[in-house]
Amino acid sequence: MRAADIIFQADNVSATFIHQFRADFPILNLKIGDKPLVYLDNAASSQMPQFVIDRLVRYQTTQHANIHRAVHYLSEIATHEYEMARQKLQHFINAGEAREVIFTSGTTDAINLVMHGYGRKFIQKGNEIILTHLEHHANIVPWQMLAEEKGAIIRVVPINDAGELLVEEYEKLFNENTRFVALSHVSNALGTINPIKEMIAFAHQRGVPVLIDGAQAAVHLAIDVQALDCDFYVFSAHKLCGPTGIGILYGKAHQLEAMQPFKGGGDMISSVTFEKTTYNEIPYKFEAGTPPIAAAIGFGAAIDYLSNIGLDSIARYEHELLTYATERISMIPGVKIIGNSSSKVAVISFTMEGIHPHDVGTLLNQEGIAVRTGHHCAQPIMQRFNIPATSRASFAFYNTKDEADALIEGIQTVKKVFLS
Ligand code: ALA
Repeated sequence: MRAADIIFQADNVSATFIHQFRADFPILNLKIGDKPLVYLDNAASSQMPQFVIDRLVRYQTTQHANIHRAVHYLSEIATHEYEMARQKLQHFINAGEAREVIFTSGTTDAINLVMHGYGRKFIQKGNEIILTHLEHHANIVPWQMLAEEKGAIIRVVPINDAGELLVEEYEKLFNENTRFVALSHVSNALGTINPIKEMIAFAHQRGVPVLIDGAQAAVHLAIDVQALDCDFYVFSAHKLCGPTGIGILYGKAHQLEAMQPFKGGGDMISSVTFEKTTYNEIPYKFEAGTPPIAAAIGFGAAIDYLSNIGLDSIARYEHELLTYATERISMIPGVKIIGNSSSKVAVISFTMEGIHPHDVGTLLNQEGIAVRTGHHCAQPIMQRFNIPATSRASFAFYNTKDEADALIEGIQTVKKVFLS
């Protein structure tokens, strides 16, 4: 095949890919003032396709009742749909069993669940917990709270100037006191994809369990928790075209069974007397109270939607977009991309010489372009690069090269306004 044919085919795949799916997202037709919305804040929250919106409406209009509590028609159907959503999540991440999937209110809640359920039971004074310099606050603060309570010690894997973990330094942090590793699959602030499979294997050779924060990975990369062999994997629906207020904790069954419950209440018990309560089996032991049933079912619909497109196609298309936008943004004088790993999802964090990121965000908004500005709940990364904040453009599979061009034009406009 000639090179020209290959290029032609690649372009064709992209064009078909986008036109097929972009129309599914009604919000993408919005205008901000008189400018078409260019939504590049997908790492904070992605948008919802009509398919998921319709599923939520169908649930609320024809299926809603409380679950696990009654034998009437609506309760049975709501219970069935909720448990089906759990199975969809199980297959999406290739978990061995549905009971290894716990619904939580999101990634933060899931990490806190592991901190309380596993950490408070098993981490003792003098034990060490390994984190990395790339973590979101959600995967730092709960472990600091635990360390403070228990007298445990936090160790941090450093990064290089490209924003990549120094794996050899990670390996050096292990000693006889190491009891837990918590690390992100993908950095929310920089987009770096971490070599988690090797890092998990290294920890396991030393008998140390590993939690993976997959909040920024699960919408970009196909996840196979059995192949990764992680002990815990967590993510939220709202970054996967689903609703807010729902996420999952995947845990190996034996780890979840060994953990103590985090929240007490209805559904998480098998019997209660004033003398003694016995707890329910997993997953219910960790799902006290009425869960966000509609959100879980919407999450299941989002999983159907993404699975239908295929995570491999999404990854391939987004990589094209990342390469396209990175090449062009890095050519603009005065603009510096923070995070240049060769292994990245489609996230571009950048600074502009002489212009504060909040001003960049405000002016881009006037052009209809939504990016996130600030420290991205990852202040240690900002400290590592000695900057207060960045502007972050984060792409989804429904973004186009035209939108990348709009961002580049927007950056040029910001420069003209500020530096002229
Ligand atoms: N964690 C989300 C982000 O990175 C909110 O923007």
